[in-house]
Amino acid sequence: MEEKIKIPKHIAIIMDGNGRWAKLNNKPRVLGHKAGAETLRKIVTHSKKIGVKYLTVYAFSTENWKRSKEEIEALMLLFKLYINSERKTLLKNKIRFVVSGRKEGVSPSLLTLIESLEELTSKDYEMTLNIAFNYGGRAEIIDAFNKANEQGMKITEQNFSNFLYNKIPDPELLIRTSGEFRISNFLLWQLAYSEIYVTDIYWPDFTEKDLDEAIKDYNKRERRFGGRLNVK
Ligand code: FPP
Repeated sequence: MEEKIKIPKHIAIIMDGNGRWAKLNNKPRVLGHKAGAETLRKIVTHSKKIGVKYLTVYAFSTENWKRSKEEIEALMLLFKLYINSERKTLLKNKIRFVVSGRKEGVSPSLLTLIESLEELTSKDYEMTLNIAFNYGGRAEIIDAFNKANEQGMKITEQNFSNFLYNKIPDPELLIRTSGEFRISNFLLWQLAYSEIYVTDIYWPDFTEKDLDEAIKDYNKRERRFGGRLNVK
């Protein structure tokens, strides 16, 4: 009999390779991101279906401001379009929408859209979609530290996560597409014990089946959290 597959409660994804996918398909980079947004739609719906409770995706890093003005504007526009087109689906599928990142630099119109969807989906939900946008892991740690300081709190390993952008359990599994073995300033605190799965597939080509494959691979791992294996 086939063993039952354990679905990670929280999956984090570095959606990499949009640019290379575009190049390979003779398209402008922006169309790579557009195709990436389509992949995100499918992966969110599939994650809900298979019972994932938290999905965090890296959509725009604090380093992405170094990209061309055209590409930055396209990514901002895509995010607005994503929010507008997914509102109904997220509500129907009982998915809470949250964004993790710094607000500085994000346009007031995008911030308004984000805040209204966060509010709209905050009541009746079974899964959380956490979009890391204008996000940096170091920035998050510094912001958390300053928040704790302002509140006069002494930071401990136990209470630190309360000061992060969102109160979400640490991911059991990190997936990175397009073959790079880097964390790229993503969830630096939260990934301490996560299993890492890297696939060569470019994000726009990543399918529901590929997500299942990553979960299957995760099921083969033995998570020890620094402890010793049981030696017989
Ligand atoms: C990395 O690919 C991807 C990004 C910097 C952006 C991720 C954005 C999306 C998937 C678009 C949709 C997201 C939302 C929330 C609307 P890259 O450009 O670094 O690819 P490359 O390394 O091949 O050049």
